[in-house]
Amino acid sequence: MSNATHLTGAQAWLNFRRIVCDTWSHDNLILLGDAAHTAHFSIGSGTKLALEDAIKLAQVLNRPGLERGAALSEYQAERNLEVLKLQNSARNSTEWFETLDRYLHFEPIQFAYSLLTRSQRVSHENLRLRDKAWLEGVERWFQSAAQGREVNEAAPPMFAPLRLRALELDNRVVVSPMAMYSAEEGTPNDFHFVHYGARAQGGAGLLYTEMTCVSPEGRITPGCAGLYTPEHVAAWRRIVDFVHANSGAKFCLQLGHSGPKGSTKVGWEGYDVPLDAGNWPVMAASEMPWSGDNQIPRPMTRADMERVIGEFVASVRMGLEAGFDMVELHAAHGYLLSSFITPLANKRTDDYGGALENRLRFPLEVFAAMRAAWPDDKPMSVRISANDWMGELGVTPDEAVEIGRAFWAAGADLIDVSAGQTWADCQPVYGRMFQTPFADQVRNEGRVTTMAVGNIYESDHVNSILAAGRADLVALARPHLIDPMWTLRAAAGQDYRRVRVPPQYLGGIAQLTRNLQREAELKA
Ligand SMILES: Cc1cc2nc3c(=O)[nH]c(=O)nc-3n(C[C@H](O)[C@H](O)[C@H](O)COP(=O)(O)OP(=O)(O)OC[C@H]3O[C@@H](n4cnc5c(N)ncnc54)[C@H](O)[C@@H]3O)c2cc1C
Ligand SMILES: Cc1cc2nc3c(=O)[nH]c(=O)nc-3n(C[C@H](O)[C@H](O)[C@H](O)COP(=O)(O)O)c2cc1C
Repeated sequence: MSNATHLTGAQAWLNFRRIVCDTWSHDNLILLGDAAHTAHFSIGSGTKLALEDAIKLAQVLNRPGLERGAALSEYQAERNLEVLKLQNSARNSTEWFETLDRYLHFEPIQFAYSLLTRSQRVSHENLRLRDKAWLEGVERWFQSAAQGREVNEAAPPMFAPLRLRALELDNRVVVSPMAMYSAEEGTPNDFHFVHYGARAQGGAGLLYTEMTCVSPEGRITPGCAGLYTPEHVAAWRRIVDFVHANSGAKFCLQLGHSGPKGSTKVGWEGYDVPLDAGNWPVMAASEMPWSGDNQIPRPMTRADMERVIGEFVASVRMGLEAGFDMVELHAAHGYLLSSFITPLANKRTDDYGGALENRLRFPLEVFAAMRAAWPDDKPMSVRISANDWMGELGVTPDEAVEIGRAFWAAGADLIDVSAGQTWADCQPVYGRMFQTPFADQVRNEGRVTTMAVGNIYESDHVNSILAAGRADLVALARPHLIDPMWTLRAAAGQDYRRVRVPPQYLGGIAQLTRNLQREAELKA
């Protein structure tokens, strides 16, 4: 039994015990309710769980022919699953209340939305079922805030525009950067032309290139794209021109250097596995190999740093020549700049190691040099790993707030909040939208613009994240691998008619919208 019910509010909050039991019965003793599990009372579900336990227990014990042991196994198996889901939601809810200060600057309507969706079990569409008129009020408020004028029509938050410096994005859906490992000597080819062209036509407001490398040694694999020769500029220019001529998508160039994770095989031959032949030497913050199988990197000297800064700047200038709208610095996932930021890989004892301020020094130098070479009216973003998934030994989400703020102060317009891939033995906790809490924390504690990414795959996820102010943009990677038209499909699913559709494809979206509507009516 929970002793929490016998305490007063404040005491109960502080003393709350999350009970998890591996075994729910022993001899003639059967646990149910708070004795078997507790879920923080801020989601108000303890009584429901206890009653549902009792109902299920009565069912299995009274089912003719069911032996007692089997009955109790079924009871525990079924109830435990429900309990785990609710305990997860309860933890989200508890954290929301514990970090409430983060949201105090929200307008009341968004604060209410954030409160209602805090457990992440109640989503945008779920709120529509509960109170359609109120939700449409939220949608109108969101659109009005995004457009800077009174908007009287409700529309899904994902279809709100966003302005970054002089760049206007049509909507908040982003094709996340994805390495295609299909370039030759760094040059993108027809595969890339079709790949990016199709995804741009699919309706997303912003399209990212794959990590495009600033030098041959900065490539992860021999198939990685680059931007360090005139041929690369011409090849990218052709793709950028197509995107601009045939879609409303804006195009962001992600620039990076592989550092200690370089000289490895293309993705489908094994991630981070060194080449069988033709390896090139790699460098990093310190002599820390990515794994026992990877090369020991050379710790960077000041001369190396100067050279790499020059390479990033040269690539930025080429990016401008190629016509990109935006540039992102890749400072995540264990690559060169990330190897400086994470204390797990950075063992330096000079000005570039130790405290976060020192570990950020070189990445910020690179960023500042890029910013100076990139026009003032064009935005820049930085991708960070907001959690090394190694507890206090690595970068924590609290530290990520400082990292985001530092790049913001240096002129970044968007912090692209990813996580992990910085340490081979890390222990990520995967799940639906699993990195979104970091985008939320960096945004609302750091007061910066963020992009969420990571296992976000439904339009309902995207709308909920945006309306709750957990991020300003939402990037989807794998969903776009299998469906370049993800955004247009989402528009059809929500009967949103004002999305920009390539005129050649208008018949397709009209039919899909009708079919999905009919399906929804039948379901209702
Ligand atoms: C502050 C607070 C707010 C909450 N708000 C909500 C809410 O809004 N909605 C919701 O659904 N849930 C809420 N809960 C949770 C909910 O109260 C519990 O999950 C629920 O009461 C659990 O029911 P139970 O029967 O398992 O245990 P209990 O309700 O704790 O019942 C156990 C009973 O056993 C008795 N008992 C203990 N030892 C013995 C003994 N040795 N012999 C005989 N009797 C004994 C106790 O006196 C008690 O009456 C809240 C909890 C707290 C603490
Ligand atoms: C095939 C593939 C290649 C990727 N390449 C990159 C990359 O070049 N740069 C980068 O920052 N992230 C890269 N990622 C990570 C994605 O951008 C994204 O953060 C991750 O896949 C989680 O999003 P998802 O759950 O929507 O797939 C890649 C992901 C995939 C699946």
